[in-house]
Amino acid sequence: VGRGAGHCRLTVDERGVTPARRLLVVGIGAGDPGFVTAQAVEALGGTDVVLVIDKGEEKDELAAVRREVLARFVPQERCRIVTVHDTVRDPALRYEDAVERWHGERVERLERALLDEVTDGETTAILVWGDPGLYDSTLRLVGELRRRGRIALEVEVVPGISSLQVLAAQHGIALNQVGRSLLVTTGRRLREDGVPSGIDDVVVVLDGGTAFTTLAGAGFDIYWGAYLGLPDEVLVAGPLDEVAAGIAETKAAARARKGWVFDTYLLRRRTTS
Ligand SMILES: C[S@@+](CC[C@H](N)C(=O)[O-])C[C@H]1O[C@@H](n2cnc3c(N)ncnc32)[C@H](O)[C@@H]1O
Repeated sequence: VGRGAGHCRLTVDERGVTPARRLLVVGIGAGDPGFVTAQAVEALGGTDVVLVIDKGEEKDELAAVRREVLARFVPQERCRIVTVHDTVRDPALRYEDAVERWHGERVERLERALLDEVTDGETTAILVWGDPGLYDSTLRLVGELRRRGRIALEVEVVPGISSLQVLAAQHGIALNQVGRSLLVTTGRRLREDGVPSGIDDVVVVLDGGTAFTTLAGAGFDIYWGAYLGLPDEVLVAGPLDEVAAGIAETKAAARARKGWVFDTYLLRRRTTS
């Protein structure tokens, strides 16, 4: 049964259920197109539609990496690229409310794209920066899509190389110490909660400022990386108290020059033994 007019290609069987569409959530790595895994290449090779979530112009370089991944690994002759424009989070709202509203709008847009642009039996891929399992909302949005029940989806996730792994590789370090815990958190949480007792190693992502400065004088080393895997990559490592001001300056200058900055860092408590 064809449902709706025009380009809507959703079909519904006699029980009112749509046949499942295969949706691949593909991690493309956190920078260098060389981070795209063999499994991701294979998945993209069998894709009919790629949904690209466009996060605006400011992070142009990230869009360029995505374009390169598309050009290199997606069979252009038979695959359609569909851009879904992302909405922006309302800064006037309380953070949690803004995120909730923002997610709702994004679910709507994704659902619309899947209904309007994909035919039954086709495979769709969504490209995700880094790894889909780490500080990325795509899998939550897809979960919400499934709960809404308008489209039956068979979802597969292809893991990607995350910014954490690139940070460790570029500094040539292990993120954890032998048998110890590793906390992964955000700049906001670090600023508000500090480092819990018993934790000596903390990886921080999504730091819009310089949350590491809140640990001045607390005996930490820092391994910092910005634009990891990208041509402008910057790495700094050393005792936090000695290098924090330099990192803050470098970060501010990079943001002023390029309009955006992505940085990830490990804070490691120095032990006296
Ligand atoms: C929304 S999270 C996405 C994380 C991603 N899913 C991953 O696996 O790395 C964005 C944050 O990841 C970190 N990040 C992602 N790519 C990065 C890169 N190339 N260099 C430095 N940090 C990066 C930054 O902390 C940035 O604020």
